[in-house]
Amino acid sequence: MPRIDSETVNKILDAADIVEVVSDFVHLQRRGANYIGLCPFHNERTPSFSVSKSKGICKCFSCGKGGSAVNFIMLHEQMTYQEALRYLAKKYNIEIVEKELTPQEIEQATERESMLAANEFALQHFQHNLTETLEGQNIGLAYFRQRGINDEMVSKFKLGYSIDKRDDLLKAAVSKGYKEKYLLETGLIGKSEKGEYYDRFRGRVIYPVASISGKIVAFGGRVLRSDKPGGKYVNSPESIIYRKSYELYGLYQAKSAIVKRNKCVLVEGYMDVISMHQKGVENVVASSGTSLTEGQIRLIHRFTDNITVIYDSDAAGIKASLRGIDMILAEGMNVKVLQLPPGDDPDSYSQTHSSTEVEEYLSTHEIDFIKFKINILLEGVGNDPIQRAKVVSDIVKSIAVIPDEIARASYIKECSFTLNFDEKILSNEVAKVRNNILEQEFKKVKAEEAKREYGDDNNDKSDTQQKVEQQVAESDSTADVFIGEILKKDRSQQLKPYEETILRYVLKYGFGEFKAGVDDKGQSIVCTVADYIRTAMDQEKLSFSISKYQHIFDAVLSLRDTWESEKLIFNEQALYIRKQQWIDGEEKIRREAQTLDEIERKEKDLLAECDADYFKALKDFDFNFVERRLASSPDDEIRNTTTDLVTEKYQLSKIHTKYANIPEERDTLNELLPRSIFELENAILELDITDLNDGLKAESSKPSPDSGLIVSIMAKILEKQKLKKVYAKLIGDRVITPVSRM
Ligand code: UTP
Ligand code: MN
Repeated sequence: MPRIDSETVNKILDAADIVEVVSDFVHLQRRGANYIGLCPFHNERTPSFSVSKSKGICKCFSCGKGGSAVNFIMLHEQMTYQEALRYLAKKYNIEIVEKELTPQEIEQATERESMLAANEFALQHFQHNLTETLEGQNIGLAYFRQRGINDEMVSKFKLGYSIDKRDDLLKAAVSKGYKEKYLLETGLIGKSEKGEYYDRFRGRVIYPVASISGKIVAFGGRVLRSDKPGGKYVNSPESIIYRKSYELYGLYQAKSAIVKRNKCVLVEGYMDVISMHQKGVENVVASSGTSLTEGQIRLIHRFTDNITVIYDSDAAGIKASLRGIDMILAEGMNVKVLQLPPGDDPDSYSQTHSSTEVEEYLSTHEIDFIKFKINILLEGVGNDPIQRAKVVSDIVKSIAVIPDEIARASYIKECSFTLNFDEKILSNEVAKVRNNILEQEFKKVKAEEAKREYGDDNNDKSDTQQKVEQQVAESDSTADVFIGEILKKDRSQQLKPYEETILRYVLKYGFGEFKAGVDDKGQSIVCTVADYIRTAMDQEKLSFSISKYQHIFDAVLSLRDTWESEKLIFNEQALYIRKQQWIDGEEKIRREAQTLDEIERKEKDLLAECDADYFKALKDFDFNFVERRLASSPDDEIRNTTTDLVTEKYQLSKIHTKYANIPEERDTLNELLPRSIFELENAILELDITDLNDGLKAESSKPSPDSGLIVSIMAKILEKQKLKKVYAKLIGDRVITPVSRM
């Protein structure tokens, strides 16, 4: 799909009123300056979903989900950024001007689009066959009925039937102008050794596979007669529109239920998904017989952190898939496992039980994956110490891949109990495996970095290769590089809270007015918050050590021109509103006032009110501009970080300040902004001093220390400590004198 040009994007973002957009899905009630309602992203009884019209942002204070209007639609409708924009454009009747495509893009687009169009045609053809032809009804539909599938599911999953003729689809498609090339590429037809075309799915019932956005990217066809040669299922081949390891059957139909229940149930086959849907369990997807891939796990992770894998009880199958589950753990997801009664699969279980029974079984039989794995591995091991040690080492490997430290610790405890194994030893083993993993990862990153640095498309490949290998070898030969890298990371980790505070001010108050100080003649110097931070950082030679933050800061600065030109337009609107307010108010006064005196007094008040509203609108525009824009940025990193920094915990502290009658943050920026800079400088100084001290220690402990070096290090330490005192005083002072150098 072509991209939407940026002018239209801005039009859409400006038109999208967060309250209107959210109101289509959530019943909102006014609460002070904000609106509040029941969060659509999790189940709750008391409303914690708050919408701020002026900021254009919504946020749930319980589950944390929310964001700009675009973000809300992306989350709620499970759309991509572009899809969400199109949704909003439609809602606000904004015409989308498509960006001109390059010839290459057209070629690619037409290739993809032609294939999708062929699939779409085939889909309709198959659906028509199933319900409108005698053969389809008698064979296909009869089959689904016999399997207990109702009509609602037939249409929800767009099930179909392919007529048992060599060229039924081929003929129909060609007669409608679909090119053989695309029918072949999508695999709808095949070519025999004799060079004859044939319908790949002939005589089978059809399960269409939809992409996450609902496009039909593949089909699965099931045989009906067991005497037929070949496999039970025939599936579409891989193509540019169908990459098997990145698709999950049923995800399109399941995604909103996955978000709502905050859990995804993983089963094996088409029939399992459909039967469970029919019983009301709609958060189900299937990996379609193959083992789960990383791509598929990521896909699920977009919607939830929790996954439940259902197994039929065949032990061989279970053991084979344990590795796949380690991958889910490594992705940072919580995995539970559910075993069905012997002999059942999700399909048969759903068909023979009521909705309530299915739900009940699901909620009471899932067990934690690690526990499950221990049980499976311990089966038949008995007390043989060597066998038990093997089990322990296997479990340790699973625990070590879990990214979250607290989760790891709790699993270690658990295992030590179940396996009757010393917790300390277990914990050491996990740490060892984990170090190994980290080191591998580090090497991989290093190698990639080197590759980037020396260019990938460098003609002199062997040279590049050599350098890459050299880099890897270096990091291999000495653990120091690794440690050094960790220290560097550690340093920015330590500076993170200070940089975050500064960035948060910039995002939250962006182009709001800031009185930076007074000049020689006693005139106050006024600039924007963003400009102040930029100048102050330049002056102190500071930059963000976290590259993500620098990237976002640059994005803020690049908004300046847009802000200035849009402010002109906004000002005109605000003036118009002010005039209207005056006219309306005056009319009311004339209608109601009893005396001339009263008219005069009321008019004076009205004028003051109109002015105050007008100036407040302008001020809000400036203060909120950056936040509004970046909270709708197409760049995931910018958008998410912005939303995170300007809402969440800080919002809570604001509520707190309200009760305590402390001035709003926005009104104390004079104190807060310079302090945030000093605090960052102070933190850097502290890190420098620690480093210098370490250097000093290292040099002094050498057999023959370089006394010159020692003296110079000490001098540096002293100098930094002096500076530190200055900063300590600056930070400690309740009111910081405005910096006059600006
Ligand atoms: P199942 O054999 O469990 O299939 O294989 P099923 O969907 O439950 O079908 P029924 O109940 O026999 O009608 C699980 C999945 O493995 C893939 C399919 O995606 C199937 O849904 N599979 C299986 C194939 O792709 N080819 C095969 O030959 C068999
Ligand atoms: Mn089955």
